[in-house]
Amino acid sequence: MKSWLISCILVTEWLLPTSGEDCPSPPPVNNSILVGTCMEGNVLGTYICIKGYHLVGKKELLYNNTSLEWDSPAPICHLGHCPIPVLVNGHMNSSNLEPVSEGEVVTFECDTDYILKGSNWSQCQKNNMWIPPLPICSTGQCPPPRKPKLGHFKARDFNSGSNVTFYCNDGYQLIGAQSLQCMDGEWSHEPPICEKMEVKKEASCVFQENNICETVQRWIQYQKASGQTLEELKYSLEIKKLQLEKIKFS
Ligand SMILES: *[C@@H]1O[C@H](CO)[C@@H](O)[C@H](O)[C@H]1NC(C)=O
Ligand SMILES: *[C@@H]1O[C@H](CO)[C@@H](O)[C@H](O)[C@H]1NC(C)=O
Ligand SMILES: *[C@@H]1O[C@H](CO)[C@@H](O)[C@H](O)[C@H]1NC(C)=O
Ligand SMILES: *[C@@H]1O[C@H](CO)[C@@H](O)[C@H](O)[C@H]1NC(C)=O
Ligand SMILES: *[C@@H]1O[C@H](CO)[C@@H](O)[C@H](O)[C@H]1NC(C)=O
Ligand SMILES: *[C@@H]1O[C@H](CO)[C@@H](O)[C@H](O)[C@H]1NC(C)=O
Repeated sequence: MKSWLISCILVTEWLLPTSGEDCPSPPPVNNSILVGTCMEGNVLGTYICIKGYHLVGKKELLYNNTSLEWDSPAPICHLGHCPIPVLVNGHMNSSNLEPVSEGEVVTFECDTDYILKGSNWSQCQKNNMWIPPLPICSTGQCPPPRKPKLGHFKARDFNSGSNVTFYCNDGYQLIGAQSLQCMDGEWSHEPPICEKMEVKKEASCVFQENNICETVQRWIQYQKASGQTLEELKYSLEIKKLQLEKIKFS
């Protein structure tokens, strides 16, 4: 394995590998420093833009010794330590004429009727990125919600503040929120789904022995039929329990 360093600052300069392995050179990129690593004819090229420039494209290029091709096109080093910030339907306090320098702070504001999504400021970092990430100006409108497979929804529009109401086809029931509200471009809930309505089953019996089970169910039904309240039902269950315990210990 061998490594080498190629710098191509404005006029491309190559520090070629001394000898030995036959390693193809990664394509030159203006205003970059290139670190190349070669192993059995496979080459990994890593590009680093010089100060005041930022990289557009893939940072690393790999040469395949079988296909004899680079896995992606060479990147480009653009002027400006970070990309020029862009804010559609808004404005920022940067001139946009000067290349961006490291540490530069920009603040953002959206035009009226637009909502800022993200941070209202950002700073160009050492690693050529804007942190926090650049925001966008959104109309606040929501994307159409997902229609339930076996139902539909009604809405006047998808503007911020508007509601959309969901309905299921006959025989299907709604699972989830029936209404969603659009709030600055995002729905308040996940859209619901429609599920086949379940036929209500008798509460299943937890007792192992069928006869006990039947007895208890019959007894509960009898209590219900006699029109007892839940409180009374509980009371009579307590009595029943005591009676059973008496039998057990006598
Ligand atoms: C790199 O810089 C040289 C000299 O300034 C220029 O002639 C060449 O077109 C540039 N290459 C690219 C890919 O921009
Ligand atoms: C290509 O690389 C593989 C390992 O990735 C190696 O085994 C093989 O010998 C190489 N072929 C040539 C022609 O260098
Ligand atoms: C190199 O290219 C060959 C032929 O196109 C392909 O089969 C192989 O997977 C590639 N290897 C890598 C590491 O991408
Ligand atoms: C933009 O505003 C921020 C915060 O007020 C300030 O730090 C920065 O220097 C301003 N940038 C420009 C280009 O005026
Ligand atoms: C950014 O937003 C914060 C709170 O969200 C606010 O206090 C601050 O004044 C805003 N800055 C600018 C430059 O709009
Ligand atoms: C949408 O629903 C919310 C909450 O249910 C309610 O407060 C609001 O008034 C509704 N908006 C419209 C436009 O109907």
